[in-house]
Amino acid sequence: MLNPKQSARYHDQGFLVLPGFRDAAARQALRERAVAIAADFVAAGPASVFTTRDQARTADTAFLDSAEGIHCFFEEEAFDERGALVRPQVDAINKIGHALHDLDPVFDRFSRGADMAALAADLGLRAPQAWQSMVIWKPPGIGGEVGWHQDAAFLLTEPASVVAFWFALEDADRNNGCLWVEPGGHRGPLRQRFVRRGNAVTLETVDATPWPSLGQALPVEVEAGSLVVFDGRLPHYSGPNRSARSRMAYTLHVTDGTTAWSADNWLRRERLPLRGLD
Ligand code: FE2
Repeated sequence: MLNPKQSARYHDQGFLVLPGFRDAAARQALRERAVAIAADFVAAGPASVFTTRDQARTADTAFLDSAEGIHCFFEEEAFDERGALVRPQVDAINKIGHALHDLDPVFDRFSRGADMAALAADLGLRAPQAWQSMVIWKPPGIGGEVGWHQDAAFLLTEPASVVAFWFALEDADRNNGCLWVEPGGHRGPLRQRFVRRGNAVTLETVDATPWPSLGQALPVEVEAGSLVVFDGRLPHYSGPNRSARSRMAYTLHVTDGTTAWSADNWLRRERLPLRGLD
């Protein structure tokens, strides 16, 4: 799947862009499923708002249950002061997660196959385990920023192994909130840990190394269909979407099953078996 130059670039930079990895028909099928899930979604309790700016919080049941389910989370700016949606529900979604790849046949197909298995092997995942999937919606006008973080803070194994597969379902650029990465930053320390104790989760600082400035960061502007793969330790960020275009992406997080899953990760699989990428 990867030539030696691509492999070398991935190890050196911590990320790699593979243009045209998923064709227009596959992207369209996934987008239609995402829209249908969002339109049909009825929250069992109060609507969950997702923001990465909370430093600590008690996780709501919907968030923890989404580890083995499909749940829609809303944008902060989607509600008025009385808590009513200010726009149609499908234009108010922040993300859908976290077991789409195991529970929905369209997402399952998109997430797996010989190409994915070969790519994972080339990236060094000896026994891939697909832990979580998310549609990250970034609706026009109100799509929120996702602050600097490292995905390994949320999906830690010993040794660290998580790889993010980030599929652009639409063109992503600076104006609609593309990814920004710190090239080579995966060799730096893990700065945070998202720790679960019982049903409480906390984002803890484990290393005070500052996040890169935007001057040290690179915008990863990609066309729809591109796959961006990156090391779980790579610092990355994405800005708000203040444009009139949405910036929908789909992410899949995969670890190496020969490593040890950290017992205090928020995400637990108790009912739904983990699967690979075949
Ligand atoms: Fe991330």
